[in-house]
Amino acid sequence: MNNKDILLDRIKQNSDRVEAALSAYSSGEDEDIGLIFRAQRYSLLGGGKRIRPFIVNEVCASLGGDEKASMPLACAIEMIHTYSLIHDDLPCMDDDDMRRGKPSNHIEFGYANALLAGDALLTKAFATAVGTDMLDAGQKAEAVRLLADAAGERGMIGGQIMDLAGEEQSYEFSKLLRLHSLKTGALIVCSARLGCIAAGYGTDSVESQKLSVYAAKIGLAFQVVDDVLDVTADEQQLGKSVRSDADNNKTTFLSFYTVDEAKEYARTLTNQAIEALEGLQNCDTLAELARYLLERTN
Ligand code: IPE
Ligand code: IPE
Ligand code: MG
Ligand code: MG
Ligand code: MG
Repeated sequence: MNNKDILLDRIKQNSDRVEAALSAYSSGEDEDIGLIFRAQRYSLLGGGKRIRPFIVNEVCASLGGDEKASMPLACAIEMIHTYSLIHDDLPCMDDDDMRRGKPSNHIEFGYANALLAGDALLTKAFATAVGTDMLDAGQKAEAVRLLADAAGERGMIGGQIMDLAGEEQSYEFSKLLRLHSLKTGALIVCSARLGCIAAGYGTDSVESQKLSVYAAKIGLAFQVVDDVLDVTADEQQLGKSVRSDADNNKTTFLSFYTVDEAKEYARTLTNQAIEALEGLQNCDTLAELARYLLERTN
């Protein structure tokens, strides 16, 4: 197998394990509140590339950690990511009807239930991060702090608020970089840091700092490619609504660059991500992941 096939195999195997863990975390036998379990499982299971949980588990493995410690954190970040997608698709945000290959959560369950499914997943993420015996109290506290910062106003929510304001005004390029780093980069950087925590490397460690730079670069590249795919891909290929950015008058990378220039920018970021791994052991899969995310078609 070549490096790409090895990576794809690892992503698939990881997705299967993450899927099983997410399913266990989101099952509940309670007739009165059964709807909230159905609504969250609808978006959480059976779709998504699982890139963030892959980074958590892969970073942990590259540092010699145990997946039993990283898996709860991998699931926590995927819960927060999934909640962000449910809310992102709501009519008051991007108003998109398709997500992960099926009708968006609010199309299936209605606006109020979609709002609550997102809220439930966000809350469950914190319970999941602390509900394990595989991390000590200090590791759990640090993980919760990282998750809260990355999901909150100085992270993903900050990016979303800039994204929405960008429908009414055009930004300078430097502001767009900030927007993308917050709305998408923050959860991806958090994923790398959580993998470090699970392996016993604090946020101040050289390892965590190098991996944070790597993740910030691939996080930004990830959103550049997302902006490009919104224009170039079709709905079936992406599994989500397309042309959404233009319909909503968003400020994106394509407000500044042609498709080819944007791809070139993403390539530069990818190279910088791979350079940031220099000096770390066992990083071939992470380097391959950066290259793969640049070429992704969904
Ligand atoms: C979509 O994220 C939203 C962005 C931050 C660009 P993904 O492309 O990772 O979506 P899923 O998880 O595969 O559905
Ligand atoms: C969303 O960015 C990032 C989130 C925090 C959900 P987009 O609005 O571009 O994501 P997609 O294209 O709908 O997946
Ligand atoms: Mg959006
Ligand atoms: Mg959107
Ligand atoms: Mg998009």
